[in-house]
Amino acid sequence: MSDPGPRVPGVGDARYPVRLTTSDGVTLAIEVPDGSTVIEAALEAGHVLPSQCCRGTCGSCHATARGAYRLGDHSPSALPPEKEAAGEVLLCRTYPLGTVDVALAYPRSRILDGGVGRREGIVVEVSRVARDTVALRLQLDPDETTGAGVEFEPGQFMELQLPGDERRRAYSMTNTGNWDGEVEFLIRLHEGGYFSGFLSELLDGRRPLGERVILHGPTGAFGLRESGLRPRWFVAGGTGLAPLLSLLRRMAEWGDPHPARLFLGVTTEEDLPKLPLLEDLAAQLPTLVVEPCVWEPISDWTGTRGTPADALAAALAGRSGSAPDVYVSGPPLLVDAVTAVCLAAGLPPEHVVTERVLPT
Ligand SMILES: Cc1cc2nc3c(=O)[nH]c(=O)nc-3n(C[C@H](O)[C@H](O)[C@H](O)COP(=O)(O)OP(=O)(O)OC[C@H]3O[C@@H](n4cnc5c(N)ncnc54)[C@H](O)[C@@H]3O)c2cc1C
Ligand code: FES
Repeated sequence: MSDPGPRVPGVGDARYPVRLTTSDGVTLAIEVPDGSTVIEAALEAGHVLPSQCCRGTCGSCHATARGAYRLGDHSPSALPPEKEAAGEVLLCRTYPLGTVDVALAYPRSRILDGGVGRREGIVVEVSRVARDTVALRLQLDPDETTGAGVEFEPGQFMELQLPGDERRRAYSMTNTGNWDGEVEFLIRLHEGGYFSGFLSELLDGRRPLGERVILHGPTGAFGLRESGLRPRWFVAGGTGLAPLLSLLRRMAEWGDPHPARLFLGVTTEEDLPKLPLLEDLAAQLPTLVVEPCVWEPISDWTGTRGTPADALAAALAGRSGSAPDVYVSGPPLLVDAVTAVCLAAGLPPEHVVTERVLPT
């Protein structure tokens, strides 16, 4: 937690100046009322910052702050204590107590000025691609304002909701924006899970294709960073692969020349997703090298054994040429391990771009 600094004595209606600076250098000045969070005050000022749970558990409102503020309760999986000590914050739990400067790791375009979008669509395809992993494709209804297509930045997510139920679940798109209005997801099935149950019923035919789904978004800060021609290395844990597929598809669409590597971590071979898309990507992106990493092989697996963090450490130790940017998406333990590996190998912190896959 930052030094809270002097509180304004006895003043409940104090307003504190907060400057939000995006990665492309745009500064938004807002005033945060005493007792409000930065996310709430930004919303009040008409700016929707990337966020999801707004209760300190998902990590998607992560930023760096300097100044006088208090951090409310939050999960250490979303913001580990050492990051908190280094000035990192969750903006949905950041209560200013004086002037605060916030550095956002994403460009201005990720801040919505007109509110979060809402679309509806139907399930057109669902298939099991690994033991506990499902690929889901939705066809969106045409939108009165934006038309038939769907726009989002690679790396973003949407919240899916079933009609008549308040619960929402966040999933990252695996495709890229398109004129056809199709969105694709890669989803892990959790034992007894709410949305997992819906998908299981679709898989075994207890529900028909054509079921309606409501989508909120897109939102999210994760995405490709402009970094010249530095190599781009991607590290996925399980369905953390989802947003990375979107980034790789965008690179393929643009004929991107960056050297690229994908370390794909799974527990056993049965968890490796059978995705023709990955083969297509390897064909479209000649620079891409895919390295599956199996933690506990159950057969005569001859590929890389261990975690993708181990494989990354070995690759960083043996690299030649310029230091890569590392994009990591997966469970918090993997994200933290990969971040530690990168820093130990001498990569500057800004070379590491993270997305934590947490319960929503
Ligand atoms: C920004 C963001 C993007 C995400 N993108 C994806 C994605 O692309 N693909 C994907 O598969 N998931 C993704 N998730 C995680 C996903 O939202 C949750 O796993 C999902 O809510 C589980 O829904 P459910 O209804 O099936 O399970 P729930 O009913 O919510 O939970 C059932 C049980 O599973 C546990 N559980 C749920 N999720 C997780 C988890 N992630 N890790 C460990 N235990 C869990 C719960 O604690 C509970 O015990 C993302 C999360 C965030 C915050
Ligand atoms: S929106 Fe802040 S931690 Fe989830």
